[in-house]
Amino acid sequence: MGLVTVITSGKGGAGKSTVSVGLGCTLAKNGKRVLLIDGDAGLRSLDAMLGVEQELVFDISDVVNGNCEPIKAIYSCREYTGLDNLFLLPAPAAEKNTVHPDIMKQLVPILSRYYDHVIIDCPAGIGKGFASAVAAADRALIVSTPDHVCIRDSGKVHQMLDEHGITQQRLVINRFVYQNFRKMQQYQDIDSIIDEIGVRLIAILPDDIGLQTSPAKAVVNQPRSSGAMALQRLAARLEGESVPLFPLDRL
Ligand SMILES: Nc1ncnc2c1ncn2[C@@H]1O[C@H](COP(=O)(O)OP(=O)(O)O)[C@@H](O)[C@H]1O
Ligand SMILES: [Mg+2]
Repeated sequence: MGLVTVITSGKGGAGKSTVSVGLGCTLAKNGKRVLLIDGDAGLRSLDAMLGVEQELVFDISDVVNGNCEPIKAIYSCREYTGLDNLFLLPAPAAEKNTVHPDIMKQLVPILSRYYDHVIIDCPAGIGKGFASAVAAADRALIVSTPDHVCIRDSGKVHQMLDEHGITQQRLVINRFVYQNFRKMQQYQDIDSIIDEIGVRLIAILPDDIGLQTSPAKAVVNQPRSSGAMALQRLAARLEGESVPLFPLDRL
């Protein structure tokens, strides 16, 4: 059974989809079989980020409604990424087709048997889409940029995840720029952020043009870029390896 990780954040634009795609590609590159599930019904983006937008016929709601077998709605991402073992189950095009949490709890464990990792990209906010995306998760990553509003919202998401019974939670600080962090003076250090949110840190990802342009291409074609290397450290820690924190001023 593959591990099911949901990628959450309080605020939109914190980097959930970027981290989902970047982490999925990194794990696949490391030889793992990975299924990405786009949980953002109505505002899906992983299909575009993985180059399968034009191919889409079916999505997760078609599987649930019996319109197709699961395999028909699971798309290989090989052509765009060059990775044989990375797959995408797209979100419905309309928000009204958000899959009910109880159905997610039935469907995801069946799918996870065929993968080492299932990664679910959560929509922004803490509404119906959130409940659906987190329902079947074994663990959660909370993605937060290092600014006060996003950090405060991350604290709320931490509480919501607790309420949903997800005890294994880790924090990913995204779009980190050392000089800006010092200049902003909102937080003295990374420990103050961790203390405010109340979740253990697992990775700090830099603001990186490669990740912004295409996280998939950055991972595959620019493995020495700061973004791809930070994702590699995140993937290793998720697999249980102990990787020391990279010096912040060299991220
Ligand atoms: N580490 C990063 N470096 C540079 N740009 C990033 C990074 N993470 C996210 N972005 C950019 O920030 C914006 C929002 O990211 P996205 O992943 O779509 O957020 P979310 O899914 O949480 O709404 C996008 O334009 C994306 O390219
Ligand atoms: Mg998104």
